[in-house]
Amino acid sequence: MSSKQFDVVVIGGGPGGYIAAIRAAQLGFNTACIDEWKNAAGGPAPGGTCTNVGCIPSKALLQSSEHFDHAAHHFGDHGISLAELKIDVAKMVGRKDAVVKQNNDGILYLFKKNKVSFFHGRGSFVAAKDGGYEIAVAGAANETLVAKQVIVATGSSARALPGAPFDEEHILSNDGALRIPSVPKKLGVIGSGVIGLEMGSVWRRLGAQVTILEAMPAFLGAADEAVAKEAAKVFKKQGLDIQLGVKISGVEKTADGVTVKYADAKGAEQVLACDRLIVSIGRVPNTTGLNAEGVGLKLDERGAIVVDAECRTNLPGVWAVGDVVRGPMLAHKAEEEGVAVAERIAGQHGHVNFDTIPWVIYTSPEIAWVGKTEQQLKAEGRAYKAGQFPFLANGRARALGDTTGFVKRLADAKTDEILGVHIIGPFASELIAEAVVAMEFKASSEDIARICHAHPSLSEATKEAALAVDKRTLNF
Ligand code: FAD
Ligand code: NAI
Repeated sequence: MSSKQFDVVVIGGGPGGYIAAIRAAQLGFNTACIDEWKNAAGGPAPGGTCTNVGCIPSKALLQSSEHFDHAAHHFGDHGISLAELKIDVAKMVGRKDAVVKQNNDGILYLFKKNKVSFFHGRGSFVAAKDGGYEIAVAGAANETLVAKQVIVATGSSARALPGAPFDEEHILSNDGALRIPSVPKKLGVIGSGVIGLEMGSVWRRLGAQVTILEAMPAFLGAADEAVAKEAAKVFKKQGLDIQLGVKISGVEKTADGVTVKYADAKGAEQVLACDRLIVSIGRVPNTTGLNAEGVGLKLDERGAIVVDAECRTNLPGVWAVGDVVRGPMLAHKAEEEGVAVAERIAGQHGHVNFDTIPWVIYTSPEIAWVGKTEQQLKAEGRAYKAGQFPFLANGRARALGDTTGFVKRLADAKTDEILGVHIIGPFASELIAEAVVAMEFKASSEDIARICHAHPSLSEATKEAALAVDKRTLNF
C-alpha cells in the first residue's frame, strides 16, 4: 500500500487537533487530521472530549437543569406559576446529544471548507521516514500517511479510582455522568473539582441528593480564597453536601448501587450509599497506542508528552498540544497551542500567554478568573491593592434576580497594573473576557475605571471593582 503524503499530519481531532489542522491548512499546508472518536452509529465524531463528553454536552445539561431550577424556585418571584413541573430526562439527554452532533458535523464541514483531509481511525507512529514520519491509521480508514511535521493532540481520559473501574452504569466517568437515564435519588461524587461541581450541580438541580467527597482539606484550592469561601457557602445553601479532607478506602458495587467507604476529616469511618457514583479526580494523558516508544517520543512519569514552552517534543518535526502535554486541561488552552504550533511550522511567531488563560466553572453562580489569586500574590511577597464589588449593588443583577457574588480585582500596589480578576456571579464566564483583554494589554485598574460600561449591565460591576481598587466605588 502506498503512503499518502502530507505536509502536516495531526493525530487527534479535539479542540487542540482540529484547530491546529484548520490553521495549518489556512497557512497553505497540505494537512490531514486523524481522529478515532465514534458516534453511536460508529461514524466519525470529531471534536474530542470537549465536543463529545466534555465542555459542550456538560454545558447543554447545565442549561437544561438551570431552566428547571428556575422554573421550580425562581419563576414565582416573577409572578409566573406552573401547574405541574416535570423533567423528561430522556428528552433533555436527547437535546444534549443533538447539540453534540451539530458540533461534530460543524467540524467535518470546517475540514471540508479548509481542505483538511480527515481520516477516521487510530493513528500511531510507524517509523521515521524520508526526513519525516510514517503514521498508520487503523479503523474505518486504513491508510499510511507520511509527513515532515506531526502534531500530536490525543487529549486525555478520566482517571479511575484504584480498584473501581468505570462501568458507566453505576461508577461513572464524565461520559456516564452525561447520560444518566433518570434522576438518581442519591448521587455520590468523588472529587470536588470542576467536573464534580458542574455535574453535581446538574443532577442536584433535577432533584438528586448529592454528596461530594473531596480529599483536599481546602475547597477549590486553585481559586482565589474569597471566591472559594463564597462558593462553598452558596453551594451548601443549595444543598450540595461537600465533605472535605476525606480518605476513600473502598468502593463497592451493590445490587442497587454503590457504597463508598471513607474516613472523614476527623478520621472517623463513614459509608456513603448511593445509586450512582461519579468519579472526577482528574484526567490522564492519552498516549497508549501511539507507539511513542517505537520512535523514541519522550513521555514523562504521568505518560504526558514532554514538550518545551513552544510545544516541541524531543523529536524534530513532532509537536504536541492540549491535554496530552503539561499545563491546564482546558479546551481554549489546547486551541491556542494548536494555532501557535501551526504558525511556528510556517515560520511565524505563534504565541500563547499562559498567564492570561481564563478559568471558568459553569455552576450557578458561575466562577471565573484570570491571573493571580490573592494568596499567590501574598506568597510571592508582591505588593498589591485589592478592590471588590458585590452584584447585590448592581442594577442589572437585581433585575435578573441574581445578586449572588462579586467581582474582585487585584492590581500592583505601585504601577496599578491588573494582576488578577476573580468573579463569582451571573455570567462570570462572559464577564471574564474583558479582564483577559485588559491583562493582555497590560491595563491598569484605572484604565478600566475610566472606560464607559453600558448601563444597566453586569459589566458595571467589573468597572466598579476597578474603582474599588482605588477605594472610590460609586454605587456601593
Ligand atoms: P481531546 O478533546 O481529548 O481530543 C483528543 C482526541 O484525540 C479525541 O477525539 C480522541 O479520541 C483522539 N485520539 C486519541 N488518541 C488517538 C489516536 N491514537 N488516534 C486518533 N485519535 C486519537 N474545558 C474547557 O475549556 N471548558 C469547559 O467547559 C470544559 N468542560 C469540560 C467538561 C468535562 C466533563 C470534561 C471531561 C472536560 C471539560 N473540559 C473543559 C476540558 C476539555 O474538554 C479538554 O481540555 C479539551 O478537550 C482538550 O482538548 P484536546 O484536543 O487536547 O484533547
Ligand atoms: P480536577 O482536577 O478539577 O478536580 C479533581 C478533584 O478531585 C480535586 O479537587 C482533587 O483534590 C480531588 N481528588 C483527587 N483524588 C481524589 C481521591 N482519591 N479522593 C477524593 N478526591 C480526590 O479534575 P476533574 O474535575 O476530574 O476535571 C478534569 C479537568 O477537566 C479539570 O482539571 C479541567 O481542566 C477540565 N474541566 C474543565 C471545565 C471547565 O473549564 N469548566 C469543566 C470540567 C472539566
